[in-house]
Amino acid sequence: MEMMRATVFHGKDDIRVEEAPRPRAGAGEAVIRITLTTICGTDLHIVRGEYPVKPGLIIGHEPVGVIEELGAGVNGYDVGDRVLVGAITPCGQCRACLSGHLSQCGHGESYEAIGGWRFGNTINGAQAEYLLVPNAQANLAKIPDELSDEQVVLLADIASTGFSGAESGKIRIGDSVIVFAQGPIGLCATAGAKLMGATLIIGVDGDDNRLVMSRRMGADVVLDYRNVDIVAEVQKLTGGGVDVAIEALGTQETFESALRCLRPGGTLSSLGVYSGKLQIPYSAFAAGLGDHRIVTTLCPGGKERMRRLMEVVRSGRVDFRPLITHTFALDKIGDAYQLFGSRADGVLKVAIKP
Ligand SMILES: NC(=O)c1ccc[n+]([C@@H]2O[C@H](COP(=O)([O-])OP(=O)(O)OC[C@H]3O[C@@H](n4cnc5c(N)ncnc54)[C@H](O)[C@@H]3O)[C@@H](O)[C@H]2O)c1
Ligand SMILES: [Zn+2]
Ligand SMILES: [Zn+2]
Repeated sequence: MEMMRATVFHGKDDIRVEEAPRPRAGAGEAVIRITLTTICGTDLHIVRGEYPVKPGLIIGHEPVGVIEELGAGVNGYDVGDRVLVGAITPCGQCRACLSGHLSQCGHGESYEAIGGWRFGNTINGAQAEYLLVPNAQANLAKIPDELSDEQVVLLADIASTGFSGAESGKIRIGDSVIVFAQGPIGLCATAGAKLMGATLIIGVDGDDNRLVMSRRMGADVVLDYRNVDIVAEVQKLTGGGVDVAIEALGTQETFESALRCLRPGGTLSSLGVYSGKLQIPYSAFAAGLGDHRIVTTLCPGGKERMRRLMEVVRSGRVDFRPLITHTFALDKIGDAYQLFGSRADGVLKVAIKP
């Protein structure tokens, strides 16, 4: 059996780069040789034991690579094509997919909550030399020659997610928008709000580097939650509240603040992953009569989503390369997790090269 190097989850705080069987493509599948990948905040939840996956699983869900092998029935591609694959790999055939809810894909059946997220969750992932791509016809997005791996790697997850926060919020030209947290996801939501035509974008964080990057990604005003009463300040800036509040952290505190910053009839677009119980105080919600909308979104995937995002980059509308602050070899991914988890040294995203 041919082997490869891969990042394997063994248990809480225990990941190892080790030999694992190299995948082979069955019907409808493809194998890609990974040329660039990265680490997501959700991988930290996995490694810290906060999000359960099976020991023995190869983790990671942000793949850029070259097609190595194509299974029967995958048409229109050649071995050697450079491809981007979304973190979410919908089948394109189930009820959820055909109804437009690709992230909640049921793999040929009905709907399954979060079912579209398979890499590094329910099947082997991308922090390895090779990756098996299921439903390859629906998920391999060819990378235009003029785009580098570094220009597209963040589209697989964080850009798709961040943009979706703006899209699900149905931002309109001239809207005011607040984005809670300017981590990688929130920064991409800020860029998305700008693309959608918001004319006042407020970025909130408590990290000086990230507040600087927030402006670079499109924020007009940045607020440091450590020394500003955010809700009061937003009332002052907007005279009644923002049209759309995007939550990109996943805590009771930021969820509640987002709601309190909304004008009546405004939309809270939530991206954070929460744990425990989330409460809505009636005063923040006009006792249920304020015409507020609360929407949630899982990162959109599939090859058409990736094609669109690559067009955004190719047209020069956004450049996410400044978010890649560090680069590591696959064998040093343990150090990369350490740095990424500690948020030291101004780290935003780390590039991993197998
Ligand atoms: N919906 C999806 O599909 C999806 C996909 C990927 C990640 N996520 C989730 O998105 C969230 C953000 O991910 P990330 O990688 O950007 O996170 P991150 O941990 O890198 O960044 C979080 C940021 O929040 C800031 N922060 C902390 N407390 C704050 C407060 N009270 N107010 C404002 N900012 C505060 C920190 O300074 C930091 O910059 C996580 O919950 C992650 O699991 C969701
Ligand atoms: Zn992710
Ligand atoms: Zn499906």
